[in-house]
Amino acid sequence: MTAVPPRVERFVDLSQDDLRARLPEALSLYVTAMRYPAGTAEQRAPMWLAHMLRVGWRCVAALDQNDTMIGIAYGYRGAAGQWWHEQVRRGVVERTGVEAANHWLDDYFELTEVHVRPTAQGRGVGEALLRRLLARVPAGKVLLSTPEGPSRAWRLYHRLGFADVLRDYRFTGDPRPFGVLGRTLPLDEER
Ligand SMILES: CC(C)(COP(=O)(O)OP(=O)(O)OC[C@H]1O[C@@H](n2cnc3c(N)ncnc32)[C@H](O)[C@@H]1OP(=O)(O)O)[C@@H](O)C(=O)NCCC(=O)NCCS
Repeated sequence: MTAVPPRVERFVDLSQDDLRARLPEALSLYVTAMRYPAGTAEQRAPMWLAHMLRVGWRCVAALDQNDTMIGIAYGYRGAAGQWWHEQVRRGVVERTGVEAANHWLDDYFELTEVHVRPTAQGRGVGEALLRRLLARVPAGKVLLSTPEGPSRAWRLYHRLGFADVLRDYRFTGDPRPFGVLGRTLPLDEER
């Protein structure tokens, strides 16, 4: 018998309290989507909880007819002193120069996570989550990092008009090459 894929019933904005209450479910979705080992969820919990406290944090989710979470996306305003900001700044300064770093790393929203349950992927849920998340972001740009290589995530970001900021970039402590992508906001305006 073929399992029926989950269907999105509604997209919702999650408050900090909402996500705290649903954190195990959200992290299980994340670990399944990324194909990480199950223990990764516990490791990531403190980081997700800390991210919620950052300025400009926003989170959206896709729920199915049983109120089960089938997609999640969140981010916050990037700022000097944050680990990711400093890592990206180092790379852009080295590769493209201080002017480019000042341009990209000022007034931006860091798109930190976007994940859709594997059984619900490939039907526009990820795109709808990103459009909702980024629609009312109070920042002039959005930046993200994603592992290099052809993937559904890369197709999605390119479809939404993201451009390369850094390619084949190594973050400290992670041997995998990453791409850093960015674009101006709002999404529906030309870059
Ligand atoms: C990346 C990810 C969030 C994208 O979510 P998604 O729902 O699978 O992707 P999209 O919203 O882009 O779906 C679009 C696909 O659905 C198809 N589609 C079908 N109906 C659609 C509709 N109504 N609207 C848009 N796309 C539709 C598109 O053709 C497209 O197919 P393609 O990816 O084969 O080109 C998801 O695949 C995921 O969780 N991947 C694993 C985790 C991950 O990599 N996260 C990002 C880390 S940086």
